[in-house]
Amino acid sequence: MRLLVVGASGHLGGEVCRQAVEAGWAVVGTFHREPGSVPGVLWELLDVRDRVAVSDVVEAVGATAVVNCAASYSEWAVSAVGAAHVAAAAAAVGTRLVHVSSDAVHGGRPEPYADDELPTPIHQYGAAKAAAETAVRVVDPAAAIVRTSLIIGDAESRQVKLCLDLLTGRMPRAALFSDEIRCPMAVEDLAAAPLELAASDHAGLLNVAGPDAVSRVELAVLVAARYGLDPAGMPVSTIADSGQVRPGHVRLDSSRAAGLLRTRLRGVRELLGG
Ligand SMILES: NC(=O)c1ccc[n+]([C@@H]2O[C@H](COP(=O)([O-])OP(=O)(O)OC[C@H]3O[C@@H](n4cnc5c(N)ncnc54)[C@H](OP(=O)(O)O)[C@@H]3O)[C@@H](O)[C@H]2O)c1
Repeated sequence: MRLLVVGASGHLGGEVCRQAVEAGWAVVGTFHREPGSVPGVLWELLDVRDRVAVSDVVEAVGATAVVNCAASYSEWAVSAVGAAHVAAAAAAVGTRLVHVSSDAVHGGRPEPYADDELPTPIHQYGAAKAAAETAVRVVDPAAAIVRTSLIIGDAESRQVKLCLDLLTGRMPRAALFSDEIRCPMAVEDLAAAPLELAASDHAGLLNVAGPDAVSRVELAVLVAARYGLDPAGMPVSTIADSGQVRPGHVRLDSSRAAGLLRTRLRGVRELLGG
């Protein structure tokens, strides 16, 4: 059983690798800037923007399954075109693909989003992730696509660090939005999902996010409690007041995943509170 993890040097990719090695997979992980630090992984340099390079690596590794965790918040060529390259390469050699997507594909509304809902992106990153999903679904209809929400890890993980930076005044001109609602997910719980899906025949979209819907402000209060910080002075605003274009309420309904997968979907209150 050999697993190719694209974007293995990132937060989620690293945890997928760690759990895969522990479960006995032979793991090849790709990096773009520098290799990750998970022991037991064979590291490969790969730029997903390069179609030929992607196809060469996928062919050479000959994996049982490919998990694509690579993305960039600013580069369409990575998040959208790169995802299409990975899907095309995996389909060409008949390798099982699990692609990681985002709740950013949704525009925001009070009602929860079901697994199969079409994307309604309102910013560039959401559009790139929606384009990636479209490419994956067209090129490889048998692929599994995991839509997830804010990924919660240690103090260095992106979403927790953002809260800590705002709580401690390290980001003076930014604010936490009280009207930006998401369903944060533990990186350990989330990383187990692609591994389970790699060994399954689930095709298409699957929401995999936590059960607690919280605002960015509520998330920061939980982070503050966890790290012994006083949340009183944190900068608070709303999306509307900031003038930014961002989805407001985005709640992923993960009930299908809860029935399908063995991995826990812990809520962020349990995660940071306990
Ligand atoms: N973080 C969140 O809260 C969140 C929320 C919802 C969905 N997601 C999705 O979850 C997935 C993983 O997110 P993450 O937070 O773990 O991301 P991350 O830590 O930023 O890691 C991104 C990965 O992509 C790689 N990458 C960047 N540019 C590349 C390129 N040109 N060619 C090949 N690889 C490249 C990076 O490699 P180097 O580091 O070596 O450059 C890294 O391994 C992504 O699909 C993301 O859209 C994340």
